[in-house]
Amino acid sequence: MIKMGTAPVNKNSYYLGLMSGTSADGIDLALVTFDENNKLEHHASYYQAYSDKTAAKITALYCAKNNNPSNNEIDRAFELDVELAQLFAKAISGFLVQEQLSCHDIIAIGSHGQTIRHRPLAKRPFTLQIGCCQTLATLTNIRVIGQFRRKDMALGGQGAPLVPAFHQTIFSENSIKNGSDVFVINIGGIANLTFLPATNKLTVIGYDTGTGNALMDDWFQLHNPNSKTNYDKNGDWAAKGKINDDLLKQLLSDDYFQLAPPKSTGREYFHLSWLKKQLSRVKPITKQDVQATLTAFTAITIIKAIKQHSANNTNTTKVYLCGGGAHNNTLASQINQLLVSENKKYQLLLTNQKGIDSDQLEAIAFAWLAFSYDHKLLSSMPAVTGASKSCTLGIAYFP
Ligand SMILES: Nc1ncnc2c1ncn2[C@@H]1O[C@H](COP(=O)(O)OP(=O)(O)O)[C@@H](O)[C@H]1O
Ligand SMILES: [Mg+2]
Repeated sequence: MIKMGTAPVNKNSYYLGLMSGTSADGIDLALVTFDENNKLEHHASYYQAYSDKTAAKITALYCAKNNNPSNNEIDRAFELDVELAQLFAKAISGFLVQEQLSCHDIIAIGSHGQTIRHRPLAKRPFTLQIGCCQTLATLTNIRVIGQFRRKDMALGGQGAPLVPAFHQTIFSENSIKNGSDVFVINIGGIANLTFLPATNKLTVIGYDTGTGNALMDDWFQLHNPNSKTNYDKNGDWAAKGKINDDLLKQLLSDDYFQLAPPKSTGREYFHLSWLKKQLSRVKPITKQDVQATLTAFTAITIIKAIKQHSANNTNTTKVYLCGGGAHNNTLASQINQLLVSENKKYQLLLTNQKGIDSDQLEAIAFAWLAFSYDHKLLSSMPAVTGASKSCTLGIAYFP
């Protein structure tokens, strides 16, 4: 990140980061300030889970049925665009009450929106995040910075992942003498990796490693319709199954894993129909064994990516986990075991150990992106996304 502007000092001026990820689990909000050196401080968080009905409306738009559009997609998508903005505004209002703040205390909201389609490899690549920024600005009476992915895509980039630039500001040990190589692994619906080398002879790398929680969530919901959670809590169900090597091999043979970065993916690629196609190519296996194998699939694709970029230095390499998948004990312990079995020394950490709540990192990152917009900082990373040049990401919407 190159600093181009100067941040005003105003202790009571907050940025509000808003994230609604691929898992379609709910809305994360983070309240953040920045000091005169652009150093951020995270003050408070808020989470509002989506109702099953809202989550179903979102996932129905992921185009999971063999990539065929379903009925009335445009109407459903753009009604949901407004409905999500209303839900975002309601969550923000609850957050402001909780924190005893008013809309006048917030400089701007940095809103990611809800991705319902991401096609970086289309003939004319595009990405679509809904949760209408204009509606949100008008309802909250707060300026909104949104549509962060658009400019990077217009510049020929993948528009994803966006968080590596933020990871670099927080986790890089590049300026520290004898600093470590650092990986930040965010396990949301899709999992993404950021590699922050200790030496500036190597460049920062970031991309989606493949599926994170999304496929596990889909398979779990299909076979546990009466569960209290929409996901395999702590990975307990997966822990009852056995990893099936044939299925694992089949899953890992997908072309996505042979692609060189820059690359990004979504639920329109890794979905239940994709999984069912893979299942049809192996001998029948039990539901729990499928869940155990999907969990291992996420762990192994992450570890393979880490191994590929680990530099040959002798220092310990730090691996920070964040995102909801960090709560999946079965997944986290598989990641740990795979790292322990390597010759190189890895230290597995949560981002909390660096002062950033692992559940809040992305919401905080979008507050940072809004701040970066206001101060004309170059917040994109062409080395990660493949864009032709760096830029200030985001578009402003006024109340
Ligand atoms: N206790 C838990 N055990 C297992 N998985 C969990 C747990 N808590 C959260 N998750 C997983 O994390 C997901 C939400 O993660 P999140 O980081 O919000 O992803 P996204 O950014 O895609 O919304 C849930 O859908 C679920 O799969
Ligand atoms: Mg989420």
